[in-house]
Amino acid sequence: MKIAIIGGGPAGLYSAILLKKQRPEAEITVHERNRADDTFGFGVVFSDATLDNFEKHDPPSYRRITQEFAYWDDIAVHFRGTVHRVGGNGFCGCSRRKLLLILQERARELGVTLNFEADIADEAHLADADLVVLADGINSRFREKYIAHFEPEVDLRSNMFAWMGSTRPLDAFTFIFQETEWGPFIAHAYQYEAGRSTWIFETDPETFDRAGLASLNEKQSAERMAEIFGWFLQGHPILTNRSTWRNFPMIRSKRWVRDNMVLLGDAKATAHFSIGSGTKLAMEDAIALADAMQGAPTVAAALEEYEQGRREEVEKTQHAADVSLVWFEHVERFWDFDPVQFAFGVMTRAKAITYDNLTLRAPDFVREVDQAFAKQVRAKGFDVDVEKPLAPMFQPLRLREMTLANRAVVSPMCMYSAKEGVPGDFHLVHYGSRALGGAGLIFTEMTCVAPDARITPGCTGLWNDEQEAVWRRIVDFIHANSAAKICLQLGHAGRKGATKLMWDGMDRPLEQGGWDVISASPIPYFPDSQMPREMDRAAMDRVKAEFVAAAERGEACGFDMLELHCAHGYLLASFISPLTNQRTDAYGGSLANRLRYPLEIFEALRSAWPSHKPMSVRISATDWADGGITGDDAVKIARAFAEAGVDLVDVSTGQTVRDSQPVYGRMFQTPFSDQVRNEARVATMCVGNITTSDQVNTILAAGRADLVALGRPHLVDPGFTMKAAAWYAAEGVFCPLQYLPGKEQIFRNSERDRQEFEELKIKAKPKTRAELKAEATKPLAAE
Ligand SMILES: Cc1cc2nc3c(=O)[nH]c(=O)nc-3n(C[C@H](O)[C@H](O)[C@H](O)COP(=O)(O)OP(=O)(O)OC[C@H]3O[C@@H](n4cnc5c(N)ncnc54)[C@H](O)[C@@H]3O)c2cc1C
Ligand SMILES: Cc1cc2nc3c(=O)[nH]c(=O)nc-3n(C[C@H](O)[C@H](O)[C@H](O)COP(=O)(O)O)c2cc1C
Repeated sequence: MKIAIIGGGPAGLYSAILLKKQRPEAEITVHERNRADDTFGFGVVFSDATLDNFEKHDPPSYRRITQEFAYWDDIAVHFRGTVHRVGGNGFCGCSRRKLLLILQERARELGVTLNFEADIADEAHLADADLVVLADGINSRFREKYIAHFEPEVDLRSNMFAWMGSTRPLDAFTFIFQETEWGPFIAHAYQYEAGRSTWIFETDPETFDRAGLASLNEKQSAERMAEIFGWFLQGHPILTNRSTWRNFPMIRSKRWVRDNMVLLGDAKATAHFSIGSGTKLAMEDAIALADAMQGAPTVAAALEEYEQGRREEVEKTQHAADVSLVWFEHVERFWDFDPVQFAFGVMTRAKAITYDNLTLRAPDFVREVDQAFAKQVRAKGFDVDVEKPLAPMFQPLRLREMTLANRAVVSPMCMYSAKEGVPGDFHLVHYGSRALGGAGLIFTEMTCVAPDARITPGCTGLWNDEQEAVWRRIVDFIHANSAAKICLQLGHAGRKGATKLMWDGMDRPLEQGGWDVISASPIPYFPDSQMPREMDRAAMDRVKAEFVAAAERGEACGFDMLELHCAHGYLLASFISPLTNQRTDAYGGSLANRLRYPLEIFEALRSAWPSHKPMSVRISATDWADGGITGDDAVKIARAFAEAGVDLVDVSTGQTVRDSQPVYGRMFQTPFSDQVRNEARVATMCVGNITTSDQVNTILAAGRADLVALGRPHLVDPGFTMKAAAWYAAEGVFCPLQYLPGKEQIFRNSERDRQEFEELKIKAKPKTRAELKAEATKPLAAE
């Protein structure tokens, strides 16, 4: 077999090694345009888990690599004169040059031909190869040559960055967030061998311009960085090696294989440097390719297996990298945070590290985070314990004169079980049991302001006395038997009205017994949905009056809070999104115009609703569709409602148009809450695939939301909050007298379970290489 590899970076060399080990008879050549020791970059970084993988696949190169490595365990975050260190991370760094020399040496030893100073312009003269590996890096010539086939998507990110180096020794992966006269600069720095560290500098484009970096040469910009970070460098210089400032390209390729050619490493996909995974991905691609080649009957079958098997892992890493890079791009959002909360945000930005996970690894750090959170709560006039604070989830929150005992919320969820809009026994038990389960705030399902405002025939309403009486009974039960507060969500279905019950076909039009529907513009939801009538001013006045009347009934029922539903493509959302609003009058066109009617309703409700009671608005912070609402729009929408007196923005997403493309995942809507809260400076509630109390605490402690709503988890577990309270030893959680024995038992058991769990986790955690190295070099204690 003949294998030609274009590119002698980590992906090309490591795949040559693994393939040659597997097929000693194969003729393998690596073509590299540079000279053998002519390499850019400073150090590369690997996690312990990646090194385990290398050890399994080629012990000799693993041994040589690890002999050369610098190990560290801590991440250090420097911000506004403070430093926070978190241990247990298990990372190591090595010089990129040494790594490549080791891989070259190992490849030669195995009989791979290394063809340096060979710039391959055309793969035609490699035509006799059975397999051509395209490992030609981020600017891959061959990916571009076959662009129509590979279909790469290149997302050039806004921040500017440059790879530099220093002689400054470091004993931790170090992030420095530095305020300057031009704006914020960030350094991502780590040591890779004695007396050598990698420094990646990053800044936003405006700060870059203000600092005049565009007109400085490599040496001058290194000097500028040395000035900015001089206080930390302690006289050590900043070094350069092709250290130009660039924008990071996030590359994703639709296809990785073309005939017998396969893309590997940066050529096929990149991952932002802030998660330190570029070289790891490149070498793990090589492992995946070799594994696929091992068993497959033909090269074509192997390449198909490589692409299919590897894609998910690469996309997961890219997703984590995306989340991380977005955090760094928007660092100014957090610039006025308490430093410990800021550091917690850095640690948890990419979702892999959480509140509970940090509690195990760095309990003192998490205690400090909790204390800072409790201090903020105390500053709002609550008499909470700051020395031994409760977890953020169990800290109270006040909105106007309504006080919530904790931050867990039952999200609004239609039960589709009302008759003529009248809630039944099911609703009393449903809402009542969730209140008894300890949640701080319960939202009603979308309760409709008129018969023709309903989504389905099973939706609850609040337009007549009978409905009002049943809602009053539910509210009274909750007030009499729990510490929960209850918020009435009022809505109008708009063009999504007159549809079937969820279990009969969500959003599908009713075949019989439907009613006329209205919307901002006459656009049906499905092509076969009812054509909505465009609202005229008379209809707007009628609906506004219906909202106000329903709110007045809500006040008569005793609801503690009122939410206006402006999300999910229903009537008011249909005004806000340009995808559903094509009006040419004062209610269409610009965002300000599109917001006019929803704001008008909000203002009418705000006047009708008692001034001591809070109001929220639910928005779709993105339509997940081209031309639709984006996170930036959501900030403007939130600001407009805040000016009109909203106390909380309930940040949901999507459901505007049926062909949207949501990106699901754990806590997938939380970044929008984060953006709205920290850019529009308004309190937010986040929601969406949040399933554990650990996630709730992670979100709250990082300042990404003020309240956390859970929908589906509450459908199966009314006692979610009680269980979480037991886990975090939040004794003060409300429990009905009738249930006290259950509370005592779960608190007792949880204390023991938690201890056992922590011991198990600590025992099961293998020592990091940094810990092992520290133990091996520790002087023996005197007898
Ligand atoms: C300027 C720069 C500095 C970097 N510094 C660091 C750092 O300090 N630390 C870190 O962790 N990561 C660094 N990275 C990122 C990291 O190098 C990559 O993520 C990783 O090397 C990817 O490995 P690869 O083998 O896919 O590609 P590369 O390492 O880019 O290797 C591709 C190789 O292909 C060769 N090549 C390209 N085209 C041809 C051709 N037509 N014919 C022959 N040869 C060709 C190139 O010369 C190169 O050697 C840096 C990247 C850049 C661009
Ligand atoms: C059965 C069901 C009914 C829902 N009804 C409503 C509703 O009436 N009003 C609303 O704003 N959101 C509604 N939602 C959306 C939820 O409030 C929540 O935003 C969504 O389920 C995501 O949260 P989760 O992942 O915790 O379930 C509903 C969700 C479900 C599962």
